[in-house]
Amino acid sequence: MSIKQGIIDCLGECTREVLGKRFRDCDENKEKGLFLELAARLNEISIDGVFACSKEIVTPYGTAISSREASLCMGDSVRTRAFWRGLVQAVRAAMERFPDEKIRVLYAGTGPFGTLFLPLTQAFEPDDLELTALEINALSLTNFRKIVETLGFEEFIGRYVLTDASSYSCEKAPHIVVCETMDKALTCEPQAAITTNLAPQLAVGGVLVPEEVRVLVDIYSLNTSTQARVLGTLYNLNKSSRSESGHIEVRGEFELPVTELSGSYRPRLCTFIKVFDNEIVATGESLITNPLFLQSFVAGEEAPKKMRVSYTLGGPRGKIVYEAIRR
Ligand SMILES: C[S@@+](CC[C@H](N)C(=O)[O-])C[C@H]1O[C@@H](n2cnc3c(N)ncnc32)[C@H](O)[C@@H]1O
Repeated sequence: MSIKQGIIDCLGECTREVLGKRFRDCDENKEKGLFLELAARLNEISIDGVFACSKEIVTPYGTAISSREASLCMGDSVRTRAFWRGLVQAVRAAMERFPDEKIRVLYAGTGPFGTLFLPLTQAFEPDDLELTALEINALSLTNFRKIVETLGFEEFIGRYVLTDASSYSCEKAPHIVVCETMDKALTCEPQAAITTNLAPQLAVGGVLVPEEVRVLVDIYSLNTSTQARVLGTLYNLNKSSRSESGHIEVRGEFELPVTELSGSYRPRLCTFIKVFDNEIVATGESLITNPLFLQSFVAGEEAPKKMRVSYTLGGPRGKIVYEAIRR
């Protein structure tokens, strides 16, 4: 069997496994094994040395990870599963909403494998959709193009654009924008800046994938190792979110119910992702939804009664500032 046929067969098996199951009814180990096998096979047809020489790129709104790191994202299987399933459903929904049009999918941050594009080649025909592939990292984009050409998926591609997605202007309004350039609690990577630039450019009735990234504040008991209380939402990044020239500043003030508590606690920033409809990535299920722990406190007279959290984006890294206020 040729290398190409081996990859197509592996992609077909992986797609059937992920898309063929009912919601949340999956064999996690099997899926992870298939994703890792697919990544290993895609490595075989990648540009020689592509992962060794690629570096991260620092932008004013977060860091674009290196080709090597981006290639490893496929193995974050709960994430990849939810995005594969969510994006395929989003395309189906867009086909219903725009019945006479070829669905224009704008994919921001393809990485070297175009991981989120791959299942579309199995679920749809080239006549159904046209992909604009956007990437800031030249090596990743060139490698993605090589993969597309090696596997014979060119008919799905409209254009390749080497650019910063946080300032890109679309020629024609996309029906779908898909982007996964995030780290926990929307820190480090530029998801928020890219979303607030591209979502307003969607066609009316278009779909943003993920539909929503919510950052919640909770308190975690260090004595019982459980979530003690959800305090509220700090930031909800969705189709309506806007920024001022990429700058975002969100503030939240939360009461700490210290008189009802005993023991030691750590406030956390928890990420919840609604990819599309009921496809979600819950807190702690993926590297991108791992909780971000803030400064701990011991309940009692001396404990802070309130805390203020702000999220500021506009430096080399999305910055989280946490402040405990004593009354
Ligand atoms: C977390 S990786 C995800 C790769 C792949 N889409 C996946 O889901 O496995 C994010 C990708 O987005 C790219 N990226 C980050 N910031 C970007 C920006 N401002 N404009 C375009 N691409 C960007 C990175 O270079 C990287 O390849």
